[in-house]
Amino acid sequence: MKIIRAEDYNQMSDLACEKIIETCQTVKRPVFGLATGDTPNGLYERLIQKYEQKEVSFEHATTFNLDEYVGYSKEHSKSYHYYMSERLFNHINIREDHAHVPNGAALNLQEECVSYEQKIKEAGRINIQLLGLGANGHIGFNEPGTPFDSRTEVVFLADSTRQSNARFFPSIEDVPKTAISMGIGTIMESEEILLLVSGEQKADILAHVLNSEPSEEFPATVLHNHEKVTIIADKGALSKVKGF
Ligand code: GLP
Repeated sequence: MKIIRAEDYNQMSDLACEKIIETCQTVKRPVFGLATGDTPNGLYERLIQKYEQKEVSFEHATTFNLDEYVGYSKEHSKSYHYYMSERLFNHINIREDHAHVPNGAALNLQEECVSYEQKIKEAGRINIQLLGLGANGHIGFNEPGTPFDSRTEVVFLADSTRQSNARFFPSIEDVPKTAISMGIGTIMESEEILLLVSGEQKADILAHVLNSEPSEEFPATVLHNHEKVTIIADKGALSKVKGF
């Protein structure tokens, strides 16, 4: 794993932005795996700026988001699809039919999961899969105990995940209990994985990920098994990692 230390959140976002833009400029039809949460917001803001300054085009890009809450359509203001439209898709020139988010409101969720996997396959390999780090070590919505070979499926959210995501909802009772998540096996097939981590509140988890052997009890540790992982983390997030 390659670890890049950023001074702060802004620099982490700048470095991640450079990496995405470089891929856009060097790969003819780039495919990105995208994440939600607070961590990638700065990156998405920068991508919009670079697009507006005509430094990058997403005309030939395809994206696949990691996850979506079950029961939530793209029009629902708390859905991840809505989040992505508001924070990125509506402001760049990506084709609507190339910006994929699992459909949490699908009538047949199993079919939706199978079809999502199929679409990823048809797009070719994901060039860069962006990840954030959940407070319990989850990636996407793959909670502790998820098999490392899992595929896109309906998952149950851990209580700790629902608590930490309650900040986006009126109350904890409103946080969905299930979601569709890209599988760990699916994520691991990406050509490169870019994990962004910011803030001292992530320092213990990040140190644990870096110092542990791969274990299904701690999903992010699977990244040790991938040949091309870049972690861009800021000073706070790296504060408990020796040598940083
Ligand atoms: C959510 C998302 C993850 C995200 C994680 C961390 O649960 N499903 O994809 O990486 O939270 O979020 P944050 O970046 O807000 O810390």
